Order: sequence, then C-alpha cells, then structure tokens
Amino acid sequence: MKERNPSGESPEKKAAGIAAADLVEEGMVVGLGTGSTTAYTIAELGRRVEEGLDIIAVVTSYQSEMLAIQAGITLTSLAEHPELDIAIDGADQIDAALNVIKGGGAAHTREKIVSMSAERFVVVADESKISEQLDHYVPLEVLPYAKEYVSKQIFNIGGSPELRLASRKDGPVISDNGNFIIDATLGLIENPVETSALISQITGIVEHGIFTNVDEVYIGKKNGSVEIMS
Ligand code: A5P
Repeated sequence: MKERNPSGESPEKKAAGIAAADLVEEGMVVGLGTGSTTAYTIAELGRRVEEGLDIIAVVTSYQSEMLAIQAGITLTSLAEHPELDIAIDGADQIDAALNVIKGGGAAHTREKIVSMSAERFVVVADESKISEQLDHYVPLEVLPYAKEYVSKQIFNIGGSPELRLASRKDGPVISDNGNFIIDATLGLIENPVETSALISQITGIVEHGIFTNVDEVYIGKKNGSVEIMS
C-alpha cells in the first residue's frame, strides 16, 4: 500500500519524530502515538526493525495500527503488555511546564491510557505547538448519549463547546471507541492540573485532552535541529 502523509512533508516534524525514535532500544515495548509527527517516528522504527531492531509496540488508534503494520513493526496489546518502556506521541499545544493538549486526531483517550502505562512519555512536535500557557481548545471524548449534558456543563464553567463534525455537511466525528468529540474552548488554562480535575468530574466525558504526565518534549526546528525540553 502507498504511504500517505495527510498534512504533507514537514521537515520540523520529521526531525522531532526521528530523533525521538532514537530513544527506542532493543527489546523495548513501545507505545505508538497518533498523528503526522508520530508517523515519522513509526516509519523510522520500521526502518530500524528492518535492520534488525527487536521491539514490540502498542498502538493508540487504527491510524497508528495501519502505519505500524505497513512499517513491519510487531504489535502487541496492553492486555499482553500492560507496562510499556516508552510512549512517543504528538501534541496540539505544549506549555512551558510541559503540560500538553492532545486530541486533534480524536485519539486522546487511547493515547492517555498508553502514555500513563509507559515508564517514559515523550512528546514530538514542531515549534508551532509551543506556547507559554495553554489556550487551545480541549478535545473531549464524550458518550453520544451525553453530548447535550456535557455541552451544558462546559457552558456552566464558562466554556464554549462545539461538536466536532467530519466536514460541514457530514455527521459527527466518531472516535475509535465509538464516541463523539466535543471541542471545548476554555480560554486561558492557568492551572492545567485543576482544569483537568474539573472536567474529569463531568459525567459523560470519557476522557479529555489535557495531559500533565509528559517527561520530555522533542521540538523539531526549521533548520532541522531538535530541542529537547524536560
Ligand atoms: C491525536 O488525537 C492527537 O493527539 C495528535 O497526537 C495531535 O493532534 C498531534 O498531531 P500532529 O502530529 O499531526 O500535529
């Protein structure tokens, strides 16, 4: 099958994705994230597997599953390997304290489970994702039955909820878990841990996209260099 990168070639994402793949060592169990930056990590790991690297991986979405299979990476599951050595994933926004917002690809629930199961969680991104503080909308994976209730609760905490649609004339985006995605604009998120706890309490939200468990961030620069934040 022909490999496709939906957002086109990005040297910055490529540099970050490949640099983080270097952290993966022989015998490791690896969590593979979702998105265009992680796609470079998966491709690089596939190249190293072809050269003899022996690893197994857990995926975070059908997208990363397809890429990993194409790359020749042996897959396992959290049921078989509940503890991962490392997870590598992208992000939509990263603050100075390494809190991140994820879920632009609707995969953040599985991504969070995989990252929480890993001893080391590394985020890969280009420079455009860096911000002093978080103010990106927060993706919420929501049970379809609860979408009105959750929207009302987001309004009640001063936010603005928007059901994510596949396109202007299509229906809702459906996650790999069969749920809807509500993108909640919450303004400036001054305390990501507090906001995370607040929205976690809303019944009907399966998982939100604020991650406060990142160990390192690999930032790809336009000149091809990679900055490591930790
Ligand atoms: C998937 O749901 C997301 O969390 C992605 O990891 C995030 O949107 C970053 O994607 P890109 O690497 O494509 O920017």
